[in-house]
Amino acid sequence: MIAIASDHAALEMKKTIMGLLDEMGLEYKDFGTYTTDSCDYPVFAARAAHAVADGICDRGILICGTGIGMSLVANKVQGIRCAACNEVCSAELSRLHNDANMIAIGARVIGSEVAKKIVRVWLTTPFEGGRHQRRVDMIGAVGRGESLE
Ligand code: RB5
Repeated sequence: MIAIASDHAALEMKKTIMGLLDEMGLEYKDFGTYTTDSCDYPVFAARAAHAVADGICDRGILICGTGIGMSLVANKVQGIRCAACNEVCSAELSRLHNDANMIAIGARVIGSEVAKKIVRVWLTTPFEGGRHQRRVDMIGAVGRGESLE
């Protein structure tokens, strides 16, 4: 199950991405927003991030104007590794090296074709593990307030 959420700035792009998920045969849960009325993106990013952190959803996709605001919110939730990616290379590497469990993209920064390519690559790229697992574990330790020194 994929969590998806957007703010008002990205409602149209969220619909495009939900269409892609339908095409890919992937189930998703839409955590809002549901209208183009101006809203506060932290509310919706937090809902989706908690669903991923709690294991209700496996991965999550956030879409706001830039991808930045929603990614900042998601990364405050323990267990979330959200990568703000507006190009394909970062999206791929966020899976290979960082095991990102959420991605945030910017509807005011990229077009829908690039967005679909980013999401498709992000959803189909596995984590490489190996030396990257140690570093991902360290991200978790920092999130729990532990020292790495
Ligand atoms: C909303 O105007 C905008 O600030 C939001 O979509 C996002 O870009 C924040 O990072």
